Amino acid sequence: MNLDRRTALTGALAATGTLTLAACAAEPEVAATTPPSATVDQVEPATSGETLLGPTAEIMVGTGKKFEISSALTILVTRPNQDTFRGFNASCTHSGCIVTGVKDDQIACGCHGARFNTDSGEPEAGPAKSALGKILLEVRGADLYALI
Ligand code: FES
Repeated sequence: MNLDRRTALTGALAATGTLTLAACAAEPEVAATTPPSATVDQVEPATSGETLLGPTAEIMVGTGKKFEISSALTILVTRPNQDTFRGFNASCTHSGCIVTGVKDDQIACGCHGARFNTDSGEPEAGPAKSALGKILLEVRGADLYALI
């Protein structure tokens, strides 16, 4: 190999390396995690300090239902047994995603896998270290109210 040929080959290899690096640098960034979409009932406050959520019969034992009270507050109501309703701020204490709902007897967050107790709101699995915020509820006749 003479000097001109060696110089040309070295230049070609350097150009290939540059193209490879450029290709790596051009890879798209990983999309940021977004909260899963979910169905949320939107409700209007009945009076200051309380909000009618609806009939208790709409929340079956062992399930939960979300209510968007405002752009800043979504409530998850759970029904761990026939006579018990629990209200929680649906904003996950790990990183703020709105929890998905009740799955396999736990409140589930779809963002990073946190699980919370449906009766106490305490974390039971995943990255969350603190309980969901509690919301006071009141049953009046056949209806459920949030006291905010
Ligand atoms: S925001 Fe809920 S697990 Fe991360």
